[in-house]
Amino acid sequence: MCGIVGFTGTRQAAPVLLDGLKRLEYRGYDSAGIAVADGDRINIAKVKGFVQNLADMTHDGGDIGGAVGVGHTRWATHGAPNDVNAHPHMSSDGRFAVVHNGIIENYAPLRQELTKKGYVFLSDTDTEVVAALLETYYDGDAKRAVMKTAARLEGSYSLGVVCLDGTGRLFAMREQSPLILGLGVGENYFASDVAALVPHTKNVIYLDDGEFAELTPESITVYDVRGRAVEKPVSRVTWDVEAAEKGGYEHFMLKEIMEQPACFKATVEPRIRNGRVEFEDFHLTDEELGRIRRIVITACGSAGYAGQVGRYVIEELCRIPVSVELASELRYRNPIIDEHTLLIVVSQSGETADTIAALKECKSRGAKTLAIVNVVGSTIAKLADHVIYTWAGPEIAVATTKGYTTQVAVLDMLAVYLADRLGKIEREKYDRLVLALLDMPGKIQRAIDLNRNIKKLAKKASAHNQIYFIGRNMDYAVCMEGALKLKEISYIFAEAYAAGELKHGTIALLEQGSLVVTLACYEPLLEKTMSNIEEVKARGAQVLAVAQEGNRQILKKADDFILVPRTEELFTPIAQIVPLQLFAYYVAKERGCDIDKPKNLAKSVTVE
Ligand code: AGP
Repeated sequence: MCGIVGFTGTRQAAPVLLDGLKRLEYRGYDSAGIAVADGDRINIAKVKGFVQNLADMTHDGGDIGGAVGVGHTRWATHGAPNDVNAHPHMSSDGRFAVVHNGIIENYAPLRQELTKKGYVFLSDTDTEVVAALLETYYDGDAKRAVMKTAARLEGSYSLGVVCLDGTGRLFAMREQSPLILGLGVGENYFASDVAALVPHTKNVIYLDDGEFAELTPESITVYDVRGRAVEKPVSRVTWDVEAAEKGGYEHFMLKEIMEQPACFKATVEPRIRNGRVEFEDFHLTDEELGRIRRIVITACGSAGYAGQVGRYVIEELCRIPVSVELASELRYRNPIIDEHTLLIVVSQSGETADTIAALKECKSRGAKTLAIVNVVGSTIAKLADHVIYTWAGPEIAVATTKGYTTQVAVLDMLAVYLADRLGKIEREKYDRLVLALLDMPGKIQRAIDLNRNIKKLAKKASAHNQIYFIGRNMDYAVCMEGALKLKEISYIFAEAYAAGELKHGTIALLEQGSLVVTLACYEPLLEKTMSNIEEVKARGAQVLAVAQEGNRQILKKADDFILVPRTEELFTPIAQIVPLQLFAYYVAKERGCDIDKPKNLAKSVTVE
């Protein structure tokens, strides 16, 4: 969703801000803008549409002088996506320009109060009240105005403020929305996402909720709510700028699919020491472990579907009841959660609003909480009692691929780890599963190599308006992610059905030529899946089977097939999803879709 950048230094700020905004484009947005303080005025340029429009309008920033500024990509919440509602928003006295991510929940009463006092608003946004409050509270001390303004705001926000008081000062404020400070030499930065900082610096400070920072070219000072300076640790970003660039691939999604063997390895290998699974930040005492009666996994979208796979594996190995709950439902459901629950939240971004709310709700009910997160220092990582990072590196394409497979990797490892701690797994099986996990990067690569013909299958499928995905047990869990991948980037209606449910309604939809992607890798139920293939074929449907190498029975029955290497049964979903990601990618390409930035979607859904 929205993105924020800020820069203060001695060189021209506008090109730096535009470069930062380009690196945040992947988050999804509908307008872009920058504000730069230059002498006795703040210059603003903003426009509906792409950052490139803004770059064209300002001759790549060359038209905008000044060395201190903020930039923004907006994903509309309050007010239509147009030039006026685009950020930055300036106070009417021209002293402050503000960019904002999140929602100011009490903006309506604030706007009313300020209007009564004679303030004239120009936009429909909630953000403009921040600029108005800053103006109202300014008495010659910008820091005091920032503090007083923050005290009036309710909701979630990260704010970037450029202030015209001749000192070249920027302010950055955080409340439940990420903001990271970047430390340079003779210049400093902030951004809502590390991706905009890495071209300049790898030394960063993660702001916490309620904190705000004052930036000059030479210094960064962080304050708490009361304005007292706070000592903050400086963290080092572990990935390079190339990791957030396309590296010769046509799309980030394709690059990220291809990175999966390496990401899986980076996530798994360091956590296996001397043949044992060990997590650096997940230590349950025997007493804590003994208290757990059930596990609840909560997340949104693909992260939830990773949880669906995790459910099968954890239940199978640990014999603990596991349920997977949509975070957007769980948060409002008065759930039965207590100190006997282990809550696992799964999130690539660590900033998904519903997942954060569900985590808080369950924590307040006494659950022990564990987060599986990709983005270091994100809100979910900070809130949970424990965090296990997926070392997937930056994921830029809106459709997650390596994020998902590394989430499944961690859940698989966790299942093996817990089963061992609970005494539910024999040594021989434990060793076999650990070896199989170490072997998975090779299997993922094989899943890619086996399907070099997938473009042809995708071309054929791209003519369909709806595609059904069916499977049983873990195959069904993979169907959910396979269907989501296809629908979000190709805009084909795609839905996952438990194969056994077909007869209870969905089969009525099938007709001559319908396409049914049938996942048929879960061996204990293969005969049942075979019967489902017969059923759909009898109604004239075409079957595209996803089957393990050498499974002649399935290959003979299917019209087309995607091959998957044989793996340890519990880990088959990882090998299955990779060709399905490629399938979705090539279908979307065939249909001429904007693959990395599908319409209406944002990379991280930071509002409800
Ligand atoms: C995945 O392709 C989606 N774009 C989406 O479902 C995503 O998985 C979901 O919004 C959750 O995001 P998170 O992992 O960052 O919490």
